[in-house]
Amino acid sequence: MKVFKTVRELKISLKKISSVKSSIGFVPTMGALHKGHLSLIEESKKNNDITIASIFINPTQFDKKGDLENYPRTLENDLILLKNIACDIVFTPSISELYNKSIVANSFDFDGLENNMEGSHRKGHFNGVGTIVKKLFEIVMPTNAYFGEKDFQQLQIIRKMVEKNHFPVTVVGCPTLREENGLAMSSRNKLLTKEEKQQASIIYEILNDVVKKTKSQSIEEIKEWVSNQFKNHPLFDLQYFIIAEEKTLKSVSIISQNKPQRAFIAVTIKNIRLIDNISIKH
Ligand code: PAF
Repeated sequence: MKVFKTVRELKISLKKISSVKSSIGFVPTMGALHKGHLSLIEESKKNNDITIASIFINPTQFDKKGDLENYPRTLENDLILLKNIACDIVFTPSISELYNKSIVANSFDFDGLENNMEGSHRKGHFNGVGTIVKKLFEIVMPTNAYFGEKDFQQLQIIRKMVEKNHFPVTVVGCPTLREENGLAMSSRNKLLTKEEKQQASIIYEILNDVVKKTKSQSIEEIKEWVSNQFKNHPLFDLQYFIIAEEKTLKSVSIISQNKPQRAFIAVTIKNIRLIDNISIKH
């Protein structure tokens, strides 16, 4: 496994590779790797000649300084995990390597995909994500890029960015990996105690109940039920719960089987945000 810290070193290596290998799979990450990330690497390895992962905690996608400071940093262990699954190349740039002197995000229009959910609760978050993923795509020029469905809004926004920029990249969405108790795997889970992790099973349990309830109850009734589950909850605060169309991410008021829909939830515990979603199919 090769590890590169600079764009120049990575590009030189990619130039050599591209003359002999045809497809490049890319998995951008912010490190603190877990099995969910590794499943993306495995998917890439199955479908590409060469797999590249990046590890970069992108400052412009954090709206709160504390959140950025607390983000888990486990580079040494991440590199061991990547080596063990035979990732070919890892790109670990510094902030100045990708942003020069001005650590600011560009402004994007994602056709409204950015307006609700994470977009309305984390100011500027998707401009930060768009900025860094665009930069990384321009450097790596992957054939296929892999993202987890846990961050479904991010996945749709990256698809939109690729479409608008005419990038020749296929964005592949991969299923969310879960802990035994159903909690969606996330780097932020490292910030939870064992007890909090156990209690967080409520998130996926609620999402599964929501799917069942869509067969007989209105969305208004379901929203009220979800909100009641978190009223007076000793640990979790509900930040949002919505059912939205997968393609537009616009919130819907009626369940429909014609256009795929998903239920989305965000809860906070001690300022740590946990998000999850589930497809609604009958
Ligand atoms: O999902 C993430 O880990 C990040 O948002 C990404 C896509 C690596 C961009 O920094």
